[in-house]
Amino acid sequence: MSKIFISCALPYANGPCHLGHLRSTYLPADIYARYNRMVGNDVLFVCATDEHGTPIAVKADKENKKPIEVAKRYHDMIVRDVESCNISLDNFTRTTDEAHYKIAQDFFLELYDKELIYKKDIRQLYCENCSKFLPDRYVEGTCSFCGADARGDHCESCGRHLEPTELDDPKCLTCASTPVIKDTYQYFFALSNFQKDIENYISNNDNLPPNVKNYASNWLKDGLEDWVLTRDMDWGIPVPLDEAKGKVIYVWGEAFLGYISSASQWSKKSNKKWEEYWDEDVIHFIGKDIIYHHAIFWPALLKGYGCKLPDNIYAGEFLSLEGEKMSTSKNWVVWISDFVKSFDSDLLRYYLTINAPLNKDTDFSWDDFQRRNNDELADVIGNFLHRTFTFTHKYFNGEIPDYINPSREDKYFEDALNKTPSLVGDLIKDLKFREALIEIFKIAKIGNKYFNDQEPWKAVKENPEQAANTIYLSNQLSKILAICLKPYLPKKADEIASILNLENSNEWKDASVFMPTGHSISKAKPLFKKIEDDVIEKEKENLYENLVSDNMSDLITIDEFAKVDIRIGQIKEAEKIEKSNKLLKLQVDIGEKTIQVVAGLAQNYSTDELLNQKVAVVVNLQPAKLFGTDSEGMLLATEESVALLHPDECNVGEKLM
Ligand code: 2FM
Ligand code: ZN
Repeated sequence: MSKIFISCALPYANGPCHLGHLRSTYLPADIYARYNRMVGNDVLFVCATDEHGTPIAVKADKENKKPIEVAKRYHDMIVRDVESCNISLDNFTRTTDEAHYKIAQDFFLELYDKELIYKKDIRQLYCENCSKFLPDRYVEGTCSFCGADARGDHCESCGRHLEPTELDDPKCLTCASTPVIKDTYQYFFALSNFQKDIENYISNNDNLPPNVKNYASNWLKDGLEDWVLTRDMDWGIPVPLDEAKGKVIYVWGEAFLGYISSASQWSKKSNKKWEEYWDEDVIHFIGKDIIYHHAIFWPALLKGYGCKLPDNIYAGEFLSLEGEKMSTSKNWVVWISDFVKSFDSDLLRYYLTINAPLNKDTDFSWDDFQRRNNDELADVIGNFLHRTFTFTHKYFNGEIPDYINPSREDKYFEDALNKTPSLVGDLIKDLKFREALIEIFKIAKIGNKYFNDQEPWKAVKENPEQAANTIYLSNQLSKILAICLKPYLPKKADEIASILNLENSNEWKDASVFMPTGHSISKAKPLFKKIEDDVIEKEKENLYENLVSDNMSDLITIDEFAKVDIRIGQIKEAEKIEKSNKLLKLQVDIGEKTIQVVAGLAQNYSTDELLNQKVAVVVNLQPAKLFGTDSEGMLLATEESVALLHPDECNVGEKLM
């Protein structure tokens, strides 16, 4: 029996969970944890909410709340989401927990004492308008490495960790002004000391999957630079040095320790030592966007501290939605809490696993989800189980029949059954979760074909021994499904086990033991249902209807809109402006006075046509000179067809709201 420390990446407590979180980390980690428990390994599976850093502080600023209030709200939602998908964590804590503060501060001090953390004067971005330094997500701009839009701590496009000063054209996230560079000091972690160690770690660790190795090796080529480990911010874990008032530990300098603080909280509850698990085998499940942090910073921090490095880092690639990148700001996501209102979370667990291997980007589409549910879960697995159970009751009194004189087909099928549990188990052990699930699906398909070919409904009259063999083996496959599906579909697998009266068969090796003749089973009940078209249509409608523009700078507040003074006017005079093909000089009566407006209407309207027309006009624009002619307002017209709005039924001088 081995001990295994399994973690999934700590979600930021700034939003609930969506399908992407589930696919890249929670689900694979849970499949792996559940399988390992079933083979008798001693698993410690932990996570926590990541509650510091700018993601939460920025959200709190926007909502005019305290960061801890925001963090608590989302922590509770994340717990609800994780539980609704039956993620079998042994412990889930928060990085705002007191014990986490102590662990993080002690860790910092240990590195400081070893002179691996040192103080240095630096220049950082400062917003004079907001009177604050702008760490991480407080600033946005252009990535100086790849030219894409990026945040101050990370470029999604090239996957690089960034310092805010590495952004071109930086802007304060709060007030959009351009920050200045100001002197301050911070504490640095001597990451460059660990270049060789990390190179060795990456190249000599055969467990690490290719995507992790490739990303990490590319970054290592550039040479590691020391890493700013503190921030000038209110929200975070205070730097535990008297001289460092007002500074907090950078969120990425303490979030990893959430794995440890969650484990040590578990130790207190369980009276077991988490260190024994860490020392034996550690695997981190993460999303590919944080490979840099886990394959480089974290091992270097651990090495500096003097601790064993993780044995494996498994990075799930991205999930898109209906072919488009997911975006929480555009609401182009499916929230887990919404999904589980309409469907069993096991269906989602199935779909997200069978859809693509973890090391490939993939897509969630409602149509494909429906197809896989209906054609695979309902038609193949569900149909096989239902036929087996109802037949056992109809013809064999609900008991496993005899297995005598098996035919060639029986033996062939029996052989396939015998091979399945170890085949599936070995694939899961190798983190090939999709491939293993495909093997389960394949054997269910073989089972359906065997059932059809044997025609037990005929054989029961013509050759009862053959019918008995068919039903005997079909029940054995049902047992294999009950056990092998458990890491994937824990609830459904339990339902199958309960029909088979096998509630206590929780070990993987049980899958290889056939039920004896005479074992009685309970009545069949529907396990997998087809999803109707209208249900899927409704989900798609919801998704598209709730899509919002994420470009907040395109939006104005009602107060901003109220500043625009639009009146009904009447054109009293119109003449062409010399040397301009487009412009006309108009005198517009707006009730209390007449204003002069220069308008680009000459190619669409003749001056005669315009006389006496009623128009909508913005009357409080700052005056401008066009072709040397003063203009005091603007007529409302469509942009491309240049058609004036005709408020004929309104009175001159009326104000629009
Ligand atoms: O990227 C993220 O969502 C981080 N909150 C992950 C932290 S994982 C680990 F370091 F704790
Ligand atoms: Zn600002």
